Amino acid sequence: MNNPTGTTSGTTLRNKVAVVTGGASGIGRATARLFAAEGAAVVVADLADAGEVVREIEAAGGRAVAVRADVSSETDCERIVTIAVETYGALHVLFNNAGIILRRTALEISADEWDRVMAVNVRSVYLMCRFAVPAMTEGGSIINTGSGWGLKGGANALSYCASKAAVVNMTRALAIDHAAAGIRVNSVNPGDTVTPMLRDEARQLQEEWAAFEKDAADRPMGRAGSPEEIAAAVLFLAGDASSYMTGSALVVDGGGLA
Ligand code: NAI
Repeated sequence: MNNPTGTTSGTTLRNKVAVVTGGASGIGRATARLFAAEGAAVVVADLADAGEVVREIEAAGGRAVAVRADVSSETDCERIVTIAVETYGALHVLFNNAGIILRRTALEISADEWDRVMAVNVRSVYLMCRFAVPAMTEGGSIINTGSGWGLKGGANALSYCASKAAVVNMTRALAIDHAAAGIRVNSVNPGDTVTPMLRDEARQLQEEWAAFEKDAADRPMGRAGSPEEIAAAVLFLAGDASSYMTGSALVVDGGGLA
């Protein structure tokens, strides 16, 4: 099967079963494709229809199933894990990646909007881990998508910054609690990455895409990232190459935080 990054063996996740949330788009989509290219059977969970991603994976010779689910819902999270185990017989890798952003200050965001961002970005990580950890009977790797804005502040994004800082520190707490079960937990922290979310941010701020993208490129490497570049880091955290890493916050941002 073709290898989207051209940098790996094609066998990193052989015989592994992975769940990717938010797998219909952007970083999740690129990661689901890379996981499958590296041998994993992938459960692609998303609020949106992930059928196209599954068809791409199958056309390239991989294994995947789409699950329509809201990761802020307890029953949906339980269903995602049940489908993984019933379809593929095990669970080894969980990529908690689904997320939303509202570019609003404290004065602009409503209490309901605040709760929604927290439910999708934070509650989901707790819920997915609650069901996935007991299913990882052979040990496993959990990767949570944080953000540069989980490690520093950012403008007009109060709830998002709070939610991603929570993800970074939940990752450490989860790593401590489940190390004895052979489960590693790390966060991947992207800088601006060209996905539908980034374009949506430009729309929310009523900025032209060209100007927004130029701002996003204002970092030592002079460009925003691609979803495939984030996926490559997630694959590293998912596989045995990172076997001594847990509780870490891996930054993938072209030097932005540097
Ligand atoms: P995206 O918008 O392209 O993809 C996010 C996916 O999550 C979508 O398919 C969406 O349908 C799904 N989703 C949203 N709410 C959901 C819910 N309640 N249940 C299930 N699925 C849901 O965004 P992108 O950029 O790929 O973002 C992925 C992750 O990366 C997010 O957690 C985001 O916060 C994070 N991130 C993105 C950065 C960027 O510049 N694009 C930078 C740093 C972090």
